[in-house]
Amino acid sequence: MSSTSSATSKLAIGIGVTLATGLTYWYYLQWKKRNTVPEKWRRVGTLEQINIFPIKSCAPLKLEDSTEIDCDILGLKYLGCRDRTLMVINDSNEMITARAYPRMVLIATKLLAPQRLILSAPGMETIELDLGALKADGEQLKTMVWSTPVQVRSVGAKYDKWLSKYLLDKESGMRLVHYPLEKPVKAINSRMVRQPFILKDDRGTFNDATSYMLMNLASIKELNTRIPRPVDPLQFRGSFQLKMDTDEPYAEDHWQWVKIGDEVIFRVVAPCTRCIFPNINVNTAIRDPDGEPLNTLKKYRLFKGYATPAIGIHLGLRSAGSVKKNAVVYVEDK
Ligand SMILES: *[C@@H]1O[C@H](CO)[C@@H](O)[C@H](O)[C@H]1NC(C)=O
Repeated sequence: MSSTSSATSKLAIGIGVTLATGLTYWYYLQWKKRNTVPEKWRRVGTLEQINIFPIKSCAPLKLEDSTEIDCDILGLKYLGCRDRTLMVINDSNEMITARAYPRMVLIATKLLAPQRLILSAPGMETIELDLGALKADGEQLKTMVWSTPVQVRSVGAKYDKWLSKYLLDKESGMRLVHYPLEKPVKAINSRMVRQPFILKDDRGTFNDATSYMLMNLASIKELNTRIPRPVDPLQFRGSFQLKMDTDEPYAEDHWQWVKIGDEVIFRVVAPCTRCIFPNINVNTAIRDPDGEPLNTLKKYRLFKGYATPAIGIHLGLRSAGSVKKNAVVYVEDK
């Protein structure tokens, strides 16, 4: 190679490196801008319902309208009862959900007093669970939430028997386990890892993807015009159900930030992609015979780069605080 051509190629490499560095820096600035809490907010509606699901896949906690609910990095929490810190596994230590056992959606919970959870289910006597006594001394077990390993502790034989009776009509086979920690440790779900705005601590407890999810009721209303039997918003298992001031179905697809009340702020981190869960009627525990609403969602809510249709948005907490029903909901004002 002559010395001129070597100088030319060195120059070309130099220009290439400079361009690449400049471009990377530009992308970083764009990302940083989009990751900064907005200064201006625009009201979009109010919080119609807040859902805490003490046991994964089961019914939400019954709450009084006036209750203030804490939002911290692990999820919603009320009187010592936290969202999705209880879960059912089987004898092979595999996560059990209503996808395989639809009757789980009829397992209801209410709080008798702080930390005193009452479980009920059709045809079963109620059973009380002292959440304060759970601590970390139960038998340690290894299980997974959608292929993501998670350490859990057994809750107790009495509860295993109750669940086995209700779900299998047997003495054993199912176990109730709890999340023994006060911090998030689960790895980010593999489907979520490439989302640019998700943080390590957004992963929650036994949640599928993140600790918080918001459903726009206007979107569900629009979906319900497309299907023969309307779905209950609860079938989408949102932490928050938003009632918009002026119904704008799917407006949430374009939001980057959500603020609830005066203090709680979330970054929108991903669309919520859907499996067969929303096909289970929450009142009857029966799967929709025509595979709705999932089949209809597949026709118009399949986004590029995602394998399943999306409705609702996953949120990552960026400013903690408390929320209550009817709180004003804001999004970034551009
Ligand atoms: C536990 O559940 C998994 C997934 O549904 C299933 O493949 C496995 O056979 C079950 N194990 C037992 C012992 O029931």
